[in-house]
Amino acid sequence: MNTSQPASLIDRFGRKVTYLRMSVTDRCDLRCIYCMSEKMQFVPRNQLLTLEELIRVGRAFVQLGVRKIRITGGEPLTRRNILSVFEALGQEPGLDDLTLTTNATLLPRYARALKEAGVTRINISLDSLRPERFRHITRVGELEKTLAGIDAALEAGFQRVKLNAVVLKNRNHDEVLELTEFAASRGMDISFIEEMPLGVIEEHDRAEAFYSSDEILADLRRKYELVPTTESTGGPSRYYHLPHSGTRVGFISPHSHNFCAQCNRVRLTAEGRLLLCLGQEHSVDLRHVLRTQPLDDEALKEAIVNAMDIKPKGHDFDLSAKPVLLRHMNMTGG
Ligand code: GTP
Ligand code: 5AD
Ligand code: SF4
Repeated sequence: MNTSQPASLIDRFGRKVTYLRMSVTDRCDLRCIYCMSEKMQFVPRNQLLTLEELIRVGRAFVQLGVRKIRITGGEPLTRRNILSVFEALGQEPGLDDLTLTTNATLLPRYARALKEAGVTRINISLDSLRPERFRHITRVGELEKTLAGIDAALEAGFQRVKLNAVVLKNRNHDEVLELTEFAASRGMDISFIEEMPLGVIEEHDRAEAFYSSDEILADLRRKYELVPTTESTGGPSRYYHLPHSGTRVGFISPHSHNFCAQCNRVRLTAEGRLLLCLGQEHSVDLRHVLRTQPLDDEALKEAIVNAMDIKPKGHDFDLSAKPVLLRHMNMTGG
């Protein structure tokens, strides 16, 4: 392979991969009921990619044409010295968008430094504005801490702060209007997400808890005239404008509006497994390549280019069946 040519990552279906989601840890200070089971086993620390390895992989992807990197977890900010990864990737020429998905609990400490490192946008998970409900959904979380993190993100002045809410019937589906108005009152976007069947969870039956994006849209339209837009952040959200505000309301609807045909992304787990689809197991062990070829970035790039050949067409999520994928969402950060 000649990597001196402007490279690009294209799969068998002609989809161009320009977006890398990197999970930097599978650990988290929360235990959201749709993401984790009550008792979780985490990856031993020595099996994680080192910070230097994470940077090496990120750079290789940028050199291969990736324009957007999202750092996810678990909770990325719980990883010690993680700022160094943001600082290194923030200086990478060619990277347009360095973004973070977080539960916000540590943003009061980190928001300003993240902005200085070059983070463009932040997505914050928030499923409820009611303290007891927030505690129930996150099992251990305190709403106040997440709200303080949201304030810190807004003060730091990122291009955009977006909220993510996973909506579950009879858990928080009745709060979509309040969450939207909260986002609008602070000039944030918000995306509503249909739960995906990753890993075995015991707290609820996923099929029973399904609440579709169309139902949410109908709920919101009882009060607001939402106008569809074709705007995209390069992610799977379909956006609508909330009138008289800069707020966009997005819907991530893997069940009701499959978006696999437009997929532009791949994921790296914290152990260095390159997953070609969130909903399938096709993967390549980049940690092995990193450690057997510690000085050869061409070998790393070649492994990444070759991985495109096994990117599957799409997911086969089925909420009523037992989860086929045993990995929980904290392995991939969504
Ligand atoms: P932006 O568009 O950049 O704001 O981000 P995003 O929506 O791509 O990322 P975020 O981390 O906020 O993820 C929101 C949700 O989208 C998560 O629950 C992800 O799992 C889901 N998501 C992102 N990409 C995919 C995908 O390829 N397939 C599926 N099924 N879900 C995805
Ligand atoms: N289905 C859908 N979204 C999930 N998230 C975590 N677990 C799931 C799941 N099973 C969301 C989080 C976060 C994003 C990265 O993924 O709420 O916003
Ligand atoms: Fe942590 Fe995010 Fe999973 Fe919640 S959804 S347990 S905040 S990784």
